[in-house]
Amino acid sequence: MQLTDNELITQAIAAASQAYAPYSKFYVGALLVGADGRTFAGCNVENISYGLTICAERNAVFAAVAAGCREFVKIAIVADTDVPASPCGACRQVMAEFNPDLEIILANFRGQSKTYRLSELLPRPSTGILNRA
Ligand code: THU
Repeated sequence: MQLTDNELITQAIAAASQAYAPYSKFYVGALLVGADGRTFAGCNVENISYGLTICAERNAVFAAVAAGCREFVKIAIVADTDVPASPCGACRQVMAEFNPDLEIILANFRGQSKTYRLSELLPRPSTGILNRA
């Protein structure tokens, strides 16, 4: 059975509660929905060497790929903010690798949300070596 957007947000908030964020204390959760209906949770994991930190969104994508799912339909991303937080450029590019038009639900812990397409948030993702002469 397909989860509603509100259920996705609730599960993303549960994922945020697993975040390891002792430095920023900014707890982010993501819930990615695969084309096969499976869902994959991610949270941010920080490191004392700050640059090694990884965002919730990328952890959700990598969990999905590790479980054999590479087709994604939507992702809910949550944080404890007034205005729902928007994913960083690195995560946008990673999501675009698998679905450049992914549906993206941005929400806060109070459940306020706004839905976008990844193509709006990242209109021209890197094509890397694809068009090399
Ligand atoms: N963070 C995410 O996990 N996702 C976002 O979309 C924004 C930033 C994390 C990285 C870091 O652990 C903390 O939030 C502060 O930037």
